[in-house]
Amino acid sequence: MSDPLRLGVVGLGRGFALSARAIAAHPGLRLVGAADPDDESCRAVQGAFGGRIYGDIAALAGDPDIEAIYICTPHHLHRDHALTALRAGKHVLVEKPMAVTLAETHAMIDAAEAEARQLIVGPSHSFDAPVRLAAEMIAAGAIGAVKMIHALYATDFLYRPRRAAELAGDLGGGAVLGQAIHQIDVVRRLAGVPAQRVTARTGGAWDPARRVEGAYAMLVDFDGGIFATLTYSGHGHFDGDRLMEGISELGIRKPDRHRATHPRLHATADEAAARRARRFTRLEDCPQPETHEHFGQVIVFGTQGDLRLTPEGVELSDAQRRSFHPAPITTPRAEVFDALYAAIRHGRAPLQDGAWGRASLEICLAALAGARSGAVQPLQFQR
Ligand SMILES: NC(=O)c1ccc[n+]([C@@H]2O[C@H](COP(=O)([O-])OP(=O)(O)OC[C@H]3O[C@@H](n4cnc5c(N)ncnc54)[C@H](O)[C@@H]3O)[C@@H](O)[C@H]2O)c1
Repeated sequence: MSDPLRLGVVGLGRGFALSARAIAAHPGLRLVGAADPDDESCRAVQGAFGGRIYGDIAALAGDPDIEAIYICTPHHLHRDHALTALRAGKHVLVEKPMAVTLAETHAMIDAAEAEARQLIVGPSHSFDAPVRLAAEMIAAGAIGAVKMIHALYATDFLYRPRRAAELAGDLGGGAVLGQAIHQIDVVRRLAGVPAQRVTARTGGAWDPARRVEGAYAMLVDFDGGIFATLTYSGHGHFDGDRLMEGISELGIRKPDRHRATHPRLHATADEAAARRARRFTRLEDCPQPETHEHFGQVIVFGTQGDLRLTPEGVELSDAQRRSFHPAPITTPRAEVFDALYAAIRHGRAPLQDGAWGRASLEICLAALAGARSGAVQPLQFQR
């Protein structure tokens, strides 16, 4: 790719570490600036990528050489950081979830429109190559009409070392905003039509020591009578990777890794320090996937056949046979930066834009509200 995109990043923690290899390997990108109040993290990124370092988003956004900013800060900062970047004329890639409230998403979408800048939300697992392949197979008629989608995953999300905000519902913590967004994005991409309403339960915080939702079940109704069930637990007991051939969310073969989670947290005297240790340090220390990433078991049921997504592709079962369709292994997370490059250099509208991110957040918030009230929640910002 000629004319690489000059990228800046704000927030150099775990989320950035998971994308760092894709950024470094992407021929259409050059990371030329990074910002974080943590000077050590800034120097680590400068060591790996070169470029300039800043202490905050305002200084990064003031760098005239930067074209786009990847916002990788905690959820409750996404709106302010996106507005600062957009108003400085930068395109924005903002981590999931797009923000914490719908009002915040409206402001971000309005600012992107006013400044005529791209706003992309990701990477969620809806960017994963098997999800794209499954969507292409559905569009080509491989299973007739989609009728029902099942998504199930169980991780140790709640018991990995956490920041206080990650365990605070009003700051966008908990499994619904942090994790359901992946399943919602995947299911929406596969349903291919707008969602209509949500019925959900979370059961509240099961563990008094970590007072935030760690699990949920939801039923999402879509146009055309399609419905999806989304089930998740982040309590670190059953390991959902056992349903995925022992391959982790990050595409690494690590059987039974949850067994270490609870004892490790129990033995941790300083959780904040353990959380900080998960930030970006060196490219060599960033996870190196062996397969595609995934977000657990996903099966799409159609009138003529069914699709099961795996970390390596898509299995099609119909009345005649079962066949496997591999999704060629590329650099995981390259897809989100491909979308950013295509949007900025070729004006190609991204699927996961601001309106997409708002629609997925609306489903999360509706699930939380519906779990509290017991009532079915209508949706109004779907597409
Ligand atoms: N897509 C994924 O799979 C994935 C995985 C992990 C995290 N994430 C997302 O990444 C985002 C950040 O989460 P994380 O896990 O990296 O958290 P983290 O705590 O590991 O990192 C956050 C970083 O932001 C920095 N920061 C805090 N306040 C700041 C400010 N005012 N200005 C600039 N930088 C500031 C911190 O110093 C830290 O380096 C969240 O949206 C999260 O959901 C996504």
